[in-house]
Amino acid sequence: MKQEPFVLDLAAGTYYFCACGKSKNLPYCDGSHKGSDFTPDQVELKEAKKVGICRCGKSKNRPFCDGTHLTIK
Ligand code: FES
Repeated sequence: MKQEPFVLDLAAGTYYFCACGKSKNLPYCDGSHKGSDFTPDQVELKEAKKVGICRCGKSKNRPFCDGTHLTIK
C-alpha cells in the first residue's frame, strides 16, 4: 500500500512536524525525538492553508509531500 500524505487544513501559525517518525501524534512532533539527532520540521504559515505533509519519509521537500510516495512500490 502506498503511503499518502497527511492532508491538513491549517490556520495561520507555527507548526512542528515530526522528523524522526516516532511521534504518537503524527504528523506533529510530540517530543519523542529527544535524545536523538532529529529535530522537528518547523513551518510558519502566515495565512490559513491546506498542506500535504509527507508520511512516507522520502520527500526532498520535507515536511511537505513532493509526490515521491507515488514512485514507491
Ligand atoms: S507522502 Fe508524498 S512524498 Fe512522502
